[in-house]
This record gives sequence, structure tokens and C-alpha cells, in this order.
Amino acid sequence: MKPTFETDRLILRPARAGDVDHLLALDEDPEVRRYVDQPDPPTREWCERLLARFAQLDEETPELGFWMAEEKQQGGTPPRFVGWFHLRPPRPGEPQNPGDQELGYRLRRDAWGRGLATEGSRALIAHAFETVGAPRVTAFALWENRASVAVMEKLGLAHALDWTYQSKSGEGVPAVLYALDRGA
Ligand SMILES: CC(C)(COP(=O)(O)OP(=O)(O)OC[C@H]1O[C@@H](n2cnc3c(N)ncnc32)[C@H](O)[C@@H]1OP(=O)(O)O)[C@@H](O)C(=O)NCCC(=O)NCCS
Repeated sequence: MKPTFETDRLILRPARAGDVDHLLALDEDPEVRRYVDQPDPPTREWCERLLARFAQLDEETPELGFWMAEEKQQGGTPPRFVGWFHLRPPRPGEPQNPGDQELGYRLRRDAWGRGLATEGSRALIAHAFETVGAPRVTAFALWENRASVAVMEKLGLAHALDWTYQSKSGEGVPAVLYALDRGA
């Protein structure tokens, strides 16, 4: 079964079918899509397929995959969906060492700038080293995505290499790989 994680402000839980509206609202924001090679707004069908893929990953590798992030609220108000985090093997074609697990995050714009990406990532990094047994956690970003790179640096990941990401439109875009070794 996929674990759920709790931090001071966040709950990271498995995705469920009812998250389709959350994913739609998240990816409808062009600012959220700016550096993630997703030029077009999502459709409901696309989000449903994504959720089906998350469910399949949860079945195949419950210790890895995507976690939906909810921010705890005061006074009995239910937690609020703010985005997602992932921990997964790097995709084919990405620079990687055996056993690497790649960290990723995407948050609603109204949740940015309060340290939530850093806070949720810390829980997944601990999980990667302590439970999954990963020798190294990596993270990729387009070079221009300075907020994402700032998160990596705050987490203690170090610049490992520069890389050219081949976008869906066939353009080569400067990208960076950051990494943290277990025990570093
Ligand atoms: C990247 C993202 C997850 C960061 O989330 P967040 O919760 O705002 O991150 P944090 O608050 O933990 O940290 C962000 C850091 O970036 C810094 N930052 C933000 N914009 C910046 C910019 N343009 N240049 C330099 N630093 C910037 C912030 O100051 C903060 O650092 P600080 O705490 O030292 O001040 C969020 O912007 C997002 O979801 N973006 C859209 C999706 C995306 O790009 N995902 C990453 C793909 S690689």
C-alpha cells in the first residue's frame, strides 16, 4: 500500500479519482505550465488518463510514484489540495545512475513562496533514502526555472550537470540536473 506522509503543513497522500478537478485547475494555470513543457491547457480526459496512470504506478511500485499534496487548514476546515510531488526513476533519455530516484513537484500558484515545495520534498527525500534505499536523489529543471532550482539548493542538492532538454516541439532547452547522495 502506498504510504501517506505528514509534515508540519502538508499531507502527501495517494491520488484518487476525485482529484480530476484538482489536476485540471492546477494545470490550467499557464504560469504553472511555463517551465514544464506543457504548452496547452489540459482536458478533463487527459487528467483522467493521468490519474489512471498514477493508480497503475501505485499498484506496481507503491513506494514510488506521485503523491497529492494537501495543506492542513485551521479550525476543522478540510485540507486544501495544493499540488503534487513525485519520486520516480528518471525517464529514458535522461542522464542517470543506477538506482537514482527523481524528485519532482508542482504546486498551485496561490501556494507558491511559502516553502511548501521544500517542505514536501524533504519528506520524499527521507523516504527515498530510508525506505526505498536509493543511493541518490536527483531533480531536473529547465535552467530558466529559478524557483525550482532554488528549491533544489535549499534541499541540499548540488548541481551535477548541465543538459539539453529536447522539448516536445523539438527545441533544445538548457536544463540542469541536481543531485544528493545518500549519507551526504
Ligand atoms: C517550483 C515550485 C514547485 C516552487 O514552489 P514553492 O512552494 O514556491 O517553493 P519554496 O517556497 O519551497 O521555495 C521557492 C524558492 O524559490 C525562490 N524563487 C522564486 N522565484 C524565484 C526567481 N524567479 N528567481 C530566484 N529565486 C526564486 C523563492 O524565493 C524561494 O527561495 P527562498 O525560500 O530562499 O526565498 C512552484 O513554483 C511551482 O509549482 N511551479 C510550477 C511547476 C514547476 O515549475 N515545477 C518544477 C518543474 S522542474
